[in-house]
Amino acid sequence: MIDSNLFLPCGIEIKNRFLKSAMTEGIAQSDGMANKRHNKLYERWAKGGVGINVTGNVQVDHRYIERAGNVVIEGKQSNESLAALADWSKSGTQNNAHLWMQLSHAGRQTPFSINKESRAPSVQPLPTLGGILNLEYQKS
Ligand SMILES: Cc1cc2nc3c(=O)[nH]c(=O)nc-3n(C[C@H](O)[C@H](O)[C@H](O)COP(=O)(O)O)c2cc1C
Repeated sequence: MIDSNLFLPCGIEIKNRFLKSAMTEGIAQSDGMANKRHNKLYERWAKGGVGINVTGNVQVDHRYIERAGNVVIEGKQSNESLAALADWSKSGTQNNAHLWMQLSHAGRQTPFSINKESRAPSVQPLPTLGGILNLEYQKS
């Protein structure tokens, strides 16, 4: 059963029932670009036999990342960044694995050390993750 194919309604076939869940890597360059370390990591999981390799948070806004070292894709990408993303995809899809990118906005998970004013629909902080929503909440 665990090795049986999974057919998704969109027509995609997954080779087995193993999904590597999203785990933030924190290994991007300071400019948010993916690099060889992502390739090595996701190649290891792909070769290990996962059906789906879900990436960690890939942020869409550099102001509201979840930690230093998140990959950030914001606006038009340079050729260098596009090549790095293509390499990452190639590494993580070896051995017939899928690589699914988790596009994220950290919202209230943005740590205070990254941005003192997070942006999120909820005013509730996330103290266990060290993410404080805003200064107003801290004062109360
Ligand atoms: C080290 C670590 C990093 C994680 N990073 C992310 C992440 O980037 N995005 C996300 O949605 N969930 C993240 N999670 C949550 C996991 O994807 C998963 O949902 C969670 O660990 C629950 O699954 P489990 O009960 O099998 O551990 C992370 C979990 C761990 C342990």
